[in-house]
Amino acid sequence: MQKTSDIIWQDTQHQVLFELIEQIKIVPFDPEILHRLKLYAEHHFILEETYMRLLDYPHVVAHLEAHDRFREELEAMLETDPTMHESLQVSLSDFLHEWLKLHVLGIDKQLEDFVLKSDHK
Ligand SMILES: [Fe+2]
Ligand SMILES: [Fe+2]
Repeated sequence: MQKTSDIIWQDTQHQVLFELIEQIKIVPFDPEILHRLKLYAEHHFILEETYMRLLDYPHVVAHLEAHDRFREELEAMLETDPTMHESLQVSLSDFLHEWLKLHVLGIDKQLEDFVLKSDHK
């Protein structure tokens, strides 16, 4: 059940990332998942970034830089030889687990607290 202290859109979208990570680990690997991951990340980042700009979020620069680093790293990973599925599955799921730990449970939570105190939940 949704906790009252969560922003519903953000929490729901973060749950999708958990699901995508599980799908990335499935053998045989479905390369279509990479396309879904990229679309998901862009859609999610744009929404967070829109909220940050709308609310004059004080940590917007650092948060945007983190999103841009993710975009770049994901792009680099997606450019690796698509036939190397096994190593791509490992590096991508490690990368996303790390992202969940450091970003989603870190600075995204700070953003969530800020949005919750605003009138734009
Ligand atoms: Fe996020
Ligand atoms: Fe974020």
